[in-house]
Amino acid sequence: DEAFHVHPTPLHLESDGPFGKFNDRQLQRGFQVYKEVCSACHSLKHVAFRNLEDIGYSEGQVKTIAAEYQVPTFDPKTGDRDTRPGVPADTFPIVYYPGQGSPPDLSMIAKAREGGAAYIHALITGYRNPKTFTKDGKSLMKEFPDFKVPDGLHFNPYFANLNIAMPPPLTKEGQVQYMDGTRPTIDQMSKDVAAFLVWAAEPKLEARHRAGVAAVIFLLIFIGLAFGAYKNIWRDIK
Ligand code: HEM
Repeated sequence: DEAFHVHPTPLHLESDGPFGKFNDRQLQRGFQVYKEVCSACHSLKHVAFRNLEDIGYSEGQVKTIAAEYQVPTFDPKTGDRDTRPGVPADTFPIVYYPGQGSPPDLSMIAKAREGGAAYIHALITGYRNPKTFTKDGKSLMKEFPDFKVPDGLHFNPYFANLNIAMPPPLTKEGQVQYMDGTRPTIDQMSKDVAAFLVWAAEPKLEARHRAGVAAVIFLLIFIGLAFGAYKNIWRDIK
């Protein structure tokens, strides 16, 4: 079935390239998709609620968001486990999905999977009907007449195993209501959440880009000075 695995089509984000910057409006839309759809099954255990201030939420908004989540507590004296509403310093809590344990944490997924954001976008929008699926003109059912999607799994040619336990998470336009007037098509919601997960995996990306640009400028100046010094030192010798 290897032959029917499909590589993601490229996805261009404003954070790409050495000068790339995050688009906070897109990250906020992506966060909304994560919060309203993905967070039912996926945690972001390396992201604290207060990190959302980086993408333009106020302290007050962060408090409100945090309080919408229940975080686990553990009392070492009694051994009691309980939950309480989140505070800004907490991270997005682990989620359990019936029969699956915990679906993969999404904090590092944009780094962990080859293709990063493009893979996430392709996966989310890539569910197909295996009966009619073709690749390079070849029909899956013709090549593998016995192909069957196991119970509880879903056919997705962008997933390495072809069958994935995640049901299609984005199924209709308007599933999430955007506040900024952007039309919430499936494609848009999927791009936005992919952009958000790039930020989650590397919130300091802009600082890294700035340091890279500064280093290159420094090197250019240094090369100029070194060349000037070289010319100066060898001026009288020929
Ligand atoms: C796996 C993203 C919503 C359940 C994954 C993977 C990604 C992902 C990137 C990893 C695939 C891999 O291993 O390469 C998302 C996004 C969502 C979303 C961006 C929201 C738009 C959901 C929801 C559920 C869910 C709502 C539960 C109903 C799972 C499960 C897996 C998974 C069970 C493991 C699949 C397997 O290994 O077969 N998801 N997900 N996801 N997701 Fe989601």
